[in-house]
Amino acid sequence: MNVLVIGKGGREHSILMKLAESERVDNLYAAPGNGGITQHATCVDINETEIDKLIDFALTNQVDLTVVGPENPLLDGIANRFQAEGLKVFAPTKEAALLEGSKSFAKEFMQKYDIPTAGYATFTDAEAAKKHIKESGAPIVIKADGLAAGKGVVVAETVEEAVEAVDSMLVDKAFADAGETIVIEECLVGKEFSLMAFVNEGNVYPMIPARDHKRAFDNDEGPNTGGMGAYAPVEDITSEIVSFTTREVLQKAADGMMEEGCPFTGILYAGLMQTEDGPKVIEFNTRFGDPETQVVLPLLENDLAQVFSDVLDGNDPQLQWEDSIAVGVVVASNGYPGSYDKGVSLPNFNPSESAYIVHAGTKKVEGKLVSDGGRVLLVGAKESSIADATSEVYQTLTDLDNSKGFFYRNDIGKHS
Ligand code: AMP
Ligand code: GLY
Repeated sequence: MNVLVIGKGGREHSILMKLAESERVDNLYAAPGNGGITQHATCVDINETEIDKLIDFALTNQVDLTVVGPENPLLDGIANRFQAEGLKVFAPTKEAALLEGSKSFAKEFMQKYDIPTAGYATFTDAEAAKKHIKESGAPIVIKADGLAAGKGVVVAETVEEAVEAVDSMLVDKAFADAGETIVIEECLVGKEFSLMAFVNEGNVYPMIPARDHKRAFDNDEGPNTGGMGAYAPVEDITSEIVSFTTREVLQKAADGMMEEGCPFTGILYAGLMQTEDGPKVIEFNTRFGDPETQVVLPLLENDLAQVFSDVLDGNDPQLQWEDSIAVGVVVASNGYPGSYDKGVSLPNFNPSESAYIVHAGTKKVEGKLVSDGGRVLLVGAKESSIADATSEVYQTLTDLDNSKGFFYRNDIGKHS
């Protein structure tokens, strides 16, 4: 079969690495891909939101299956458009992708279907929002309703900070349309984890739990980012917690979307807090997580092309996971998640046998690899213990010691 993967990040590189191992795949394409993806797939110069061009490409090149990585094309209706052309696509429709695209939709949906989540209220008026904050007190969480690349969330420790966040979103329009409505949530306390599943309508096949680290700097300090490192599976997230989350969150969400008349097909991602009262949803994403995918897929023993086909055809893919732990640390450009330079030379990494490199913001210029984004690449390793995997990763990262322009967290996998 011919497979097209849409996107250019680490998540897509990871999906393509796994698909490249498949005996079922004849031709692998990536649009637009990145500097590392060229090793596994033919990179096509079409951006992720150029849906007409992507459809043309898929039709002309007899693409049998398209997998969509990022969220923006989902909300633009890429799955609806591909399906209308009779093209097989592993991705939710734009109606189903609203679980990620609108936090207020997601919160109302969770309330309706009794899915555990933080208490909340929705506002468009700044004064009403501030009154609510003053009555509730801090800590409290302020979120832009729409997509904001992981940056539209403020966990405010004080009432003043929360009021500032309201002004920035509703008055100064820091997130433009995405912040026209805000959600104010109860602050949950506990350990975070992510659980992703392959979903086709009412069928839910969970993966292993992962833990992402969203803050830019060590000890969870600094601004929120798209994710600075991850590991999977997560020791403190027991199989009982995974079963509970599968039943009470992912299955209820899949069933609820069918009830709503917009059945979900694709990857459903729940970001959760393991609270004293059990797991509660922080957010839904309607796609593979980044960087969770880079530590989850390397542990999948199945042929990924077969898994996508099975799930789409309504068959149980019988997921099997390697009994190891994968750790991944993101190398980012100095300045990320704010502004940063591009085009900085990257060293040649010499990963050991159990380590691997997943590219995100890289490109090849005259045969040499340079940075081309905020999150540049991820160094991962899988080993029988988290300590060994972590030490392999940080050993490989010493190859970066003489390069300027990059930073990474030193504490991924070292404390949970
Ligand atoms: P989100 O973009 O919704 O995943 O939020 C980004 C980060 O903010 C999460 O990974 C959490 O660390 C934090 N966060 C979001 N919502 C809450 C909440 N209700 N309580 C505590 N922390 C939260
Ligand atoms: N790692 C969180 C996300 O993919 O949104």
